[in-house]
Amino acid sequence: MEVVILADPKDIGVVAADAISALVDRKPAAVLGLATGSSPLSIYDELVARCEAGLLSFRQARGFTLDEYVGLPVDHPQRYRNVIDTAFVTRVDFAPGAVLGPDGQATDIPAACAAYENAIREADGVDLQILGIGTDGHIGFNEPGSSLASRTRIKTLTRQTRVDNARFFDDDVESVPTHCLTQGLATIMAARHVILVATGRGKAEAVHHLVEGPVSAMWPATILQHHPHVTVLLDGAAARRLQLVDYYRETYMSKPDWQGI
Ligand code: F6R
Repeated sequence: MEVVILADPKDIGVVAADAISALVDRKPAAVLGLATGSSPLSIYDELVARCEAGLLSFRQARGFTLDEYVGLPVDHPQRYRNVIDTAFVTRVDFAPGAVLGPDGQATDIPAACAAYENAIREADGVDLQILGIGTDGHIGFNEPGSSLASRTRIKTLTRQTRVDNARFFDDDVESVPTHCLTQGLATIMAARHVILVATGRGKAEAVHHLVEGPVSAMWPATILQHHPHVTVLLDGAAARRLQLVDYYRETYMSKPDWQGI
């Protein structure tokens, strides 16, 4: 696991966008795993800027979102499909239908989850997965106690996650859905490169467990310690509880420019 601590959170967007640009350069039909939430926004903004400047194109690329609330109406602005469209997909040049997400309106939920797993498999898997992390250590919506071998399925959101996400629902926690469909931890682990972004003091405890804690279903993101290519992009506040901060900084500073993350 590579830990990169950047003084300016905006640089997080640039470093991640460099990796995504390099991937799409060498593989124009790359498959991206897309997270919603606040953490990846600087990445999406940077990718949009590069597309607008003619430096990057997603014309042949595909995308799979991580998760979706169950039961939100199709036109609800916080439905993750709409959130990712607004934040990224419709701002760049993906082909129509190139980005898929789990169907939060499905009546047969197990079938919808199996179909989503199939779609990812048929696309030959995800090349690069963007992740945020919940304050309770979730990735996707794999809440504490999630099976480390899980695949796409329905999950109940913790009270903590609903409180954290109430900011998107006029600060009304009761308006935040109680259930979601989410890629499982094994689904996420199958991505070939994972970039996880965390900023702010509120993420420091989860980041401490993710990077330096024991692997445990109580902190689901810790499964990433078993992944061969994970990059964790942090600001100083999110890194504040890490023991080996100096080592991580030194390692990143001494990397040759060509190497990337
Ligand atoms: C979003 C997702 C979640 C978020 C996490 C952090 O698709 O899967 O795991 O990444 O809740 O959210 P933010 O970035 O809003 O703090």
